[in-house]
Amino acid sequence: MKKCTFFVSLLLLATTFAGCNSEKLYEASINYTIEDGVIVLSEPQRQEGQTSLLEFRAEPLDTVRVGFVGLGMRGPGAVERFTYIDGVAITALCDKYRERAEEAQHYLRAAGMADATLYSGDEGYKALCESDDVDLVYIATPWQMHVTIALYAMEQGKHVAIEVPCANTVEECWQLVDAAERNRVHCTILENCCYDHFELTTLYMAQQGLFGDIIHAEGAYIHNLEPYWQHYADNWRLEYNQANNGDIYATHGIGPNCQALNIHRGDRLDYLVAMSTKSVNGTKLVKELMNEEECRQGDQINTLIRTVNGCTIDMQHNVMTPRPYSRMYQLVGTEGFANKYPVEGYTFKLDQINKIAEPGTLPDIENLNHHTFAPKEVVEAMMEQYKHPVQRQLVDGIPLEEYSKRVGGHGGMDFIMDYRLIYCLRHGLPLDMDVYDAAEWSSMGELTRISIENGSKPVRIPDFTRGEWNKIDGLTHYFAE
Ligand SMILES: NC(=O)c1ccc[n+]([C@@H]2O[C@H](COP(=O)([O-])OP(=O)(O)OC[C@H]3O[C@@H](n4cnc5c(N)ncnc54)[C@H](O)[C@@H]3O)[C@@H](O)[C@H]2O)c1
Repeated sequence: MKKCTFFVSLLLLATTFAGCNSEKLYEASINYTIEDGVIVLSEPQRQEGQTSLLEFRAEPLDTVRVGFVGLGMRGPGAVERFTYIDGVAITALCDKYRERAEEAQHYLRAAGMADATLYSGDEGYKALCESDDVDLVYIATPWQMHVTIALYAMEQGKHVAIEVPCANTVEECWQLVDAAERNRVHCTILENCCYDHFELTTLYMAQQGLFGDIIHAEGAYIHNLEPYWQHYADNWRLEYNQANNGDIYATHGIGPNCQALNIHRGDRLDYLVAMSTKSVNGTKLVKELMNEEECRQGDQINTLIRTVNGCTIDMQHNVMTPRPYSRMYQLVGTEGFANKYPVEGYTFKLDQINKIAEPGTLPDIENLNHHTFAPKEVVEAMMEQYKHPVQRQLVDGIPLEEYSKRVGGHGGMDFIMDYRLIYCLRHGLPLDMDVYDAAEWSSMGELTRISIENGSKPVRIPDFTRGEWNKIDGLTHYFAE
């Protein structure tokens, strides 16, 4: 067994590499070794005074005072949604551009709420984070600013909720984990797709064992961003795509998969391999909009992940070519199957057995019925029966699912996410998505890039819980009552 172990630091790549010169190098954000052909990033020790945040409960907040940072295409919708949640005071609005913060004020006025304090400029977020009038900092800025703002907020003792992905590198993921653990605050990921009605219902079916042992899952972000590129503030998104290969927007796909697979609640992401296509449309785009010759990101990124318990996840990322929008969401279990795109449907083994053959007769090989989804009426009845308790949670006497459809935000899932965040903070409950979810899901960007840039070598996925991934038995959505 040849063990080629060498530490590579960002600035000393060339000089420390003697003896292993057949290996390709990637400028990782953190030191790594290669063990049995697997790239293993170093995992920093937990510092003294830091403790685990698994199942963390913060002091209940009667009213959650929220400050929003980043009011471009995404942020204002969140401000509006929060005006529909009881126990919220929107005390601060911040954008680099003053007029965007001013503009968002109208949602508060329309809802009869008090005006918020406005902050602006590149570093306006600092005063917002320092304010005694804010409990939760809600971050919807460009990715490049997420961690800077979140760390500053957490150091001021504020809870943070960060848009996706929360961080861009593995090093940044550790910084989030460490800051949250050190300051004993929540750091959650705003992964709205975990609250999509189909995903939530399917999660509950999975939790009730309907799919048996889930052995495989699929997830993706397939969204042709052609109409949007020119609307991101200061071109941050295309700049990021141009400079970085890898699945840089993996959380919509992997988030719901990890919840169904109980990741860091009984199973753990072990390693991944990733591969990218060449860049064709991306290269044309950056030439046209940025006058750049090269787009580092391939038009499509494909990733395979294996978990410690032997499950696999297949992920795709494609924002460059004309494909129908898809998050692929699929669960393959020993007893059943769920699929969201392009058609929502379920297949269950028991149902199939009845259709295959009468006892004692040979199966009819021409009969393909048992290879199709369960009939529509069955699916509808099951989806009603297996609604997740979160969908049934009452808001003013109305089930949250129905309430969320009235408020809106990607069909309601954005509202459910926001509502659950505030509900858990008000009742001092563990959040549905913790800092370890935020780190695991966000780390995909750099980990896939490392694999791609090293000839699709396997890359070990860090254990952000530092050995506690098997301490909790399954994902729980908490309720006060
Ligand atoms: N979950 C979802 O479905 C979803 C959908 C869209 C966007 N997003 C995420 O939301 C975030 C924002 O995306 P967007 O589409 O609104 O981009 P955007 O460019 O429209 O908005 C970003 C805003 O942040 C502001 N900003 C930049 N630097 C700042 C700073 N230092 N301080 C304060 N404000 C600053 C910009 O001026 C801009 O108004 C991204 O993380 C994106 O991935 C998530």
